[in-house]
Amino acid sequence: MELLVIHPSADEVRDDERLSAVLRDALSGLPHRTLTDMDGLPDLRGRRLLFALALGEYGVNSACLRLLRRLRAEPDLLEGCTAALVVDGAGELYTKSAASELALAANLAGSALLGRPLVEATGSLNNFRVQAKNLGTDLAGAYRAAVRELAERLACETFAPRETPSILALHASSYHTSNTMQLWAQVKRRLGEGFDVAEIGLRNGAVSDCAGCPYTACLHFGEKDRCFYGGLMQDEVWPAIRRCDAVVLLCPNYNDALSANLTAFVNRLTGLFRQTRFYDKAVFAIVVSGYSGGDTVARQIVSAMNMNKSFYLPPRFSMIETANDPGEALRLPGVEGRLDAFAERIRGTLCP
Ligand SMILES: Cc1cc2nc3c(=O)[nH]c(=O)nc-3n(C[C@H](O)[C@H](O)[C@H](O)COP(=O)(O)O)c2cc1C
Repeated sequence: MELLVIHPSADEVRDDERLSAVLRDALSGLPHRTLTDMDGLPDLRGRRLLFALALGEYGVNSACLRLLRRLRAEPDLLEGCTAALVVDGAGELYTKSAASELALAANLAGSALLGRPLVEATGSLNNFRVQAKNLGTDLAGAYRAAVRELAERLACETFAPRETPSILALHASSYHTSNTMQLWAQVKRRLGEGFDVAEIGLRNGAVSDCAGCPYTACLHFGEKDRCFYGGLMQDEVWPAIRRCDAVVLLCPNYNDALSANLTAFVNRLTGLFRQTRFYDKAVFAIVVSGYSGGDTVARQIVSAMNMNKSFYLPPRFSMIETANDPGEALRLPGVEGRLDAFAERIRGTLCP
């Protein structure tokens, strides 16, 4: 399928040559078209999009900001699209944060993202050291190879529907008091028959955080389907992840981040990730904040589960609400319609 390369070009970013050269090499022979004017974008619906951002020295590209604004202002702009990203910085910072910000905006505008959708290049290219060694090439060669591999996946990967989809909901909250859990109960009710739904509670330190074993030790335990700490994660969560077609993360906002229990889950997924990729499993989330910051938590999930751990990100993967007092979420204006729409998105992603 033809790729549309969305390459916002801005006068203040003078270091665009490296990204342009990599795209030229990596995309040669692949059908693609490049768009640079963010104010004159054509109809993008249903397309395969490769966002290519050159951030320059200070991590700010005004054309990228115009793109971000359009995505947020036009929530249907990317209906039916699938996207991936290349982010090139002139310094060592800002590539990840710019990528996750754009990824969430694209997702809220209707685009899916491939699992592992990001190739980032820091100014020094030192983030390619391991890949360059594995490929027996230099840093620039590893950068080109990564973009080529991403573009090839973007051109052909699709998320296949299932007959009886299996969903794993992970939480660390109380059913009685939690707004997040009450929203999930309503989504589950709407899904009804035809789904195989499992739930695992990760409360009260049921999952110890990752011990940070050396890479080889993590690989060694992982190959035996084990992790250094064992326990619930190894005995129940890993097998449930292997079985499921989609994970639903139930995420109250704790200090503008995932709770410690859910963060431990993501960290401990590393051992399983060493053995397998999750491109054929989707991640959804319900995020509830007492006051503000739902986008921060949703972005963290995009970074951790989609960009890092390789889960497929379906269009509008998250339901993001603001409610604090127990029971308040279910009384929010318009919440019934948003619950219907979220359940429908799960159905639309997973069912034939
Ligand atoms: C430890 C802790 C930290 C919290 N931090 C935030 C925060 O940074 N921002 C915010 O808007 N709400 C914060 N909240 C409030 C919850 O997000 C809020 O209660 C929301 O309803 C989701 O939690 P629930 O599912 O347990 O009801 C925090 C709550 C707790 C217990």
